[in-house]
Amino acid sequence: MARGTAIQRVVIAYGSESGNAERLACRLTDVPSLHAYELVCKALDDIDLCRLSADDLLLVLTSTFGDGDPPGNAEGFSAALEALSPELHFSYAVFGLGDVAYAHFCAFGKRVDRVLAARGARRLISRVDADLDYEYFFAQWQETVTAILDGRRQDGLDLNLQVQSYDATRGFDARVVAVERLNTSEHGVFHIELDIADSGMHYRAGDVLYVKPESNAALLDAMAIAFGAVARSLFDGKELRLLSKSVLRYMASASANADLKDKLKVRNRAQLADYLYGKDVLDVVNDCGGASGFDAEALAAKLSDLNPRAYSIASSGVTTMGQNPRVSLCVREVSYEASGRERFGAASYPLCTAAVGDAASVFTRANTDFRLEARAIAPLILVGAGTGIAPYIGFLEDLAQSGVQREVLLVFGERRSDQDFLYQQRLVAWQSAGVLDHLVTAFSRDQASKYYVQHALQDNGELVWRLLEEGGHVYVCGSRDNLAFAVDDAFQRIVVTHGGQSARDEADYWASLGDTGRLHKDLY
Ligand SMILES: Cc1cc2nc3c(=O)[nH]c(=O)nc-3n(C[C@H](O)[C@H](O)[C@H](O)COP(=O)(O)OP(=O)(O)OC[C@H]3O[C@@H](n4cnc5c(N)ncnc54)[C@H](O)[C@@H]3O)c2cc1C
Ligand SMILES: Cc1cc2nc3c(=O)[nH]c(=O)nc-3n(C[C@H](O)[C@H](O)[C@H](O)COP(=O)(O)O)c2cc1C
Repeated sequence: MARGTAIQRVVIAYGSESGNAERLACRLTDVPSLHAYELVCKALDDIDLCRLSADDLLLVLTSTFGDGDPPGNAEGFSAALEALSPELHFSYAVFGLGDVAYAHFCAFGKRVDRVLAARGARRLISRVDADLDYEYFFAQWQETVTAILDGRRQDGLDLNLQVQSYDATRGFDARVVAVERLNTSEHGVFHIELDIADSGMHYRAGDVLYVKPESNAALLDAMAIAFGAVARSLFDGKELRLLSKSVLRYMASASANADLKDKLKVRNRAQLADYLYGKDVLDVVNDCGGASGFDAEALAAKLSDLNPRAYSIASSGVTTMGQNPRVSLCVREVSYEASGRERFGAASYPLCTAAVGDAASVFTRANTDFRLEARAIAPLILVGAGTGIAPYIGFLEDLAQSGVQREVLLVFGERRSDQDFLYQQRLVAWQSAGVLDHLVTAFSRDQASKYYVQHALQDNGELVWRLLEEGGHVYVCGSRDNLAFAVDDAFQRIVVTHGGQSARDEADYWASLGDTGRLHKDLY
């Protein structure tokens, strides 16, 4: 067969943890145009770069794992890459596989590409950064490999297949497509749907969406009254509501506020939290003697940029390009009055009061410890209070769509059944459809004595114990203060009462649940 380049050998090297990159590498060996060359297919760890010559084309297909790390069978290669000193003379192309929900998207593929180029290897195809929908990219890459071997060099350089990932510095402007109030009690809880078409964003049920807030105009106005008109631009984009210890230390020191200094001592952590609850920077300025005691510019320089706020995703995953991808949240509106000023949660208030068509700057992050294991069939015990129900809406949507049969118990807690039964209609519909087997509620204010999810768990102890014994996974989501200790305690009591275990065995049982990856918590 005629050859368009001087290449004699094609070395296909894969770095793969769960098999995706390896499968693609194997498929590449079946491509007819490559059969004109000597063909080698190996794990990256079995490749010695120093033995490759100018006649070789190295095709790297690799995923990224952990915190931007190489997959298991590329760890040795990764270490060798760092130590590499000689000039490289071969040609290469990198196809990176990753997941944009991770902070270090395709980081290992990017590193391999960067180091090879820096050491003199000749990049024949622009690097590919593929997301979970890598098949479409792979088909194009495979064609490009054939094209460059035919001598069409420009095709490789023209290829533009790099999925963009988003983060705190660069969010995706998602459009609000629906805002639905879920309760009638004082603090509104809303189901919010965002359109993420054309974002290239992917997520799975259980993951987290970060929303980048914008400065609140009323708070900037109040700052301008205190510090003068310049404050509007000085403090725009600054975090004025969640104050870090370093900012508070600066304020205490600049104003010689001994009381605040004292609250900042480690032993007074609880006191500081109580003091800060409901306060923004202007409250602290006032408690420190007023704006005249501060240099506005210096204070602005100390404040960080607005922090993105995390929200559990309340919809099943988006993993397919070309559909109509959306992401849903369940958000409690933060708005209250204090010291004669209206206060608005930086992220929740704009979200809950958004009109259809408004934009929200967002990015996703994987929450691997809180996802549903694919293809698993073990029972699920889902415990959520308030907006802690959000991820379970995603789970149930996922189960309804996939048709996977799992016995599901949902224990949901809120204040009043007639005002706060979030997602009632959907839950009842899933119950009728057989997706949700047991729906247990705990409405704390429906009766004289308080009744919470931990009480409901114990009242359903026999069922909970059976599901645990059948290999059930426990998920707990919601307020850390309300759930962290109480729910652990309820489960431990169930193990003793229904499992007939001693207190010591019960502690082991509970620990083993965590050790075997059957206990998942998302508390905030
Ligand atoms: C992993 C994770 C998942 C989360 N998931 C969800 C979710 O699904 N749904 C959800 O609604 N939230 C969720 N949160 C919480 C969310 O990130 C925000 O903290 C919350 O929405 C408030 O943000 P905000 O910007 O609106 O308010 P901020 O501007 O950050 O103000 C919050 C502050 O307001 C004060 N405050 C709040 N309420 C009152 C009140 N009634 N009276 C006086 N002061 C008050 C407190 O000082 C509080 O610290 C999650 C958090 C994490 C970490
Ligand atoms: C625990 C875990 C950690 C991961 N970490 C990252 C990461 O840091 N960056 C990234 O882009 N992808 C990450 N991924 C996604 C994988 O790279 C992606 O699923 C890829 O298709 C896996 O390919 P493989 O089967 O060849 O290993 C991670 C996946 C898992 C399950």
